[in-house]
Amino acid sequence: MPYQNEPYSIQEIPGTKHYCTCGESGNKPYCDGSHKKLNTGKSPAQVEISEAKDVFVCGCGKTGNSPFCDGSHSK
Ligand code: FES
Repeated sequence: MPYQNEPYSIQEIPGTKHYCTCGESGNKPYCDGSHKKLNTGKSPAQVEISEAKDVFVCGCGKTGNSPFCDGSHSK
């Protein structure tokens, strides 16, 4: 899977977000529907962002706090 070994650092704006968890999106860290086209068996993580803030979305697929980075990429 096309994961990377570091998080995506985003200055997020309020709203409902769908973050990719399958690693196949062409618009990471957001879902682009690739999980359905490629039948990955995964689905995006829906997160409600209530205020503008910096977020770190997992890019390695190893986090225990999906969809956010928990430092597992560096272990
Ligand atoms: S990028 Fe996956 S745990 Fe940090």
